[in-house]
Amino acid sequence: MRILVIGSGGREHALVWKLAQSQGVSAVFAAPGNGGTEQEGARNVAVNVDDLDGLTALARQEGIDLVVPGPELPLTLGIVDRMRAEGIACFGPDAYGARLEGSKAFAKSMMQRAGVPTARSVVCSSLEEARREIRNMGAPLVVKADGLAAGKGVIMAQTEQEALDAVEEIMAARAFGAAGDLVLLEECLEGEEASFLCLCDGTRALPLPSAQDHKRAFDHDLGPNTGGMGAYSPAPVLPDDRLEEMADITVRPILREMAKDGHPFVGVLYAGLMMTAQGPKVLEYNVRFGDPECQPLLMRLQGNLAAIMLDAVHGRLNPADLRQDASTALGVVLAAQGYPGSYAKGMSIDGIAAAEAVSGVKVFHSGTAVKSNGLVSSGGRVLCVTALGNGLAEAQAAAYNAMQHIRMPDSFYRKDIGAKGIQRLAARKSGGR
Ligand code: AMP
Ligand code: GLY
Repeated sequence: MRILVIGSGGREHALVWKLAQSQGVSAVFAAPGNGGTEQEGARNVAVNVDDLDGLTALARQEGIDLVVPGPELPLTLGIVDRMRAEGIACFGPDAYGARLEGSKAFAKSMMQRAGVPTARSVVCSSLEEARREIRNMGAPLVVKADGLAAGKGVIMAQTEQEALDAVEEIMAARAFGAAGDLVLLEECLEGEEASFLCLCDGTRALPLPSAQDHKRAFDHDLGPNTGGMGAYSPAPVLPDDRLEEMADITVRPILREMAKDGHPFVGVLYAGLMMTAQGPKVLEYNVRFGDPECQPLLMRLQGNLAAIMLDAVHGRLNPADLRQDASTALGVVLAAQGYPGSYAKGMSIDGIAAAEAVSGVKVFHSGTAVKSNGLVSSGGRVLCVTALGNGLAEAQAAAYNAMQHIRMPDSFYRKDIGAKGIQRLAARKSGGR
């Protein structure tokens, strides 16, 4: 099998790493890939993730049997529809299904149709309407741009004025362009968040173990929102014995509606959950693996990922093929100083081999490039140091121990990845919930 992975982050390095190990895989390409995908033996090809013509031509030329898009953009642009027209298997939803991530208004209407629990919300198509609704609903509330906004389109407004400023920014100043044609105003939910991902083949949804992301830049969930500064799996807030129930509540009803609409959902359906006192509620859907959740999830996944993905495309997923390592996996992201704002690129990176000498550790590259002078940074998130351990505390210790070996100027990482999970485990042990 010849495989093309689309994307250039830590998620894509992890996908390449896992797919390259799958029996029957003879070649892996990454478009555009990064320093890590190259070191894995994949051939990096300089085609961007939004260049559908270029990607289609590449897949045709190289006789690709399976395309695996990492990020949402090619999916919302219709890469699956394009590959299907070429007769090439592509692991993901078609453009219609990708609207679950590409339009928050669409996702809300699907959740309503499917009876999936979610925050109460209204969709507004004009500034006047948004202003009126804000006064109706009162603060605090969450303001969301409808479309893709690179993780920046969600504003938690503590006061009515903050909400009014946010809709002004989105709908009048058009901070996110056409992504702000519609705005969602949503009640503010309270609880602990969890990432819940299922592999889907159009009718079946097989849950992966839970994971937890760390979206804020700094320790104790302070600082600006990022793409994710670390993740671990499983998350004690969503234990293994609740995964089937969670799939029944948050994912399978959506699959039924998608099939009714003539667009059976294939790929990863990722429900961003808030575990509230009233039960789980869906904050958002993503239609792909999360980054960095993918890194710990794939560290634990056993079995032939290439075959599993191909089975998903062909509507024949078999739960017996999907097995998990009993360990806990935890990944810590090393980022360039300044991220998620502006940051320098081209910083030298050393110590990866020493980090990987720590037992159970794999270093995934997020934003790196191989230059004549060695490995250098090429993005805001640079590495994800990921470790398997016997339990959360062990995985955490191994990841941070390995991180000590990494040398990169002007970099930072969070010191508290996994802390919430460890607290929850301790509370459970002492008789709490
Ligand atoms: P989203 O892109 O919709 O997942 O939103 C990004 C982040 O904003 C989520 O991970 C939550 O931390 C937060 N968030 C979104 N919606 C809500 C809500 N209704 N209540 C509380 N927090 C929210
Ligand atoms: N880590 C969250 C995301 O990939 O959207």
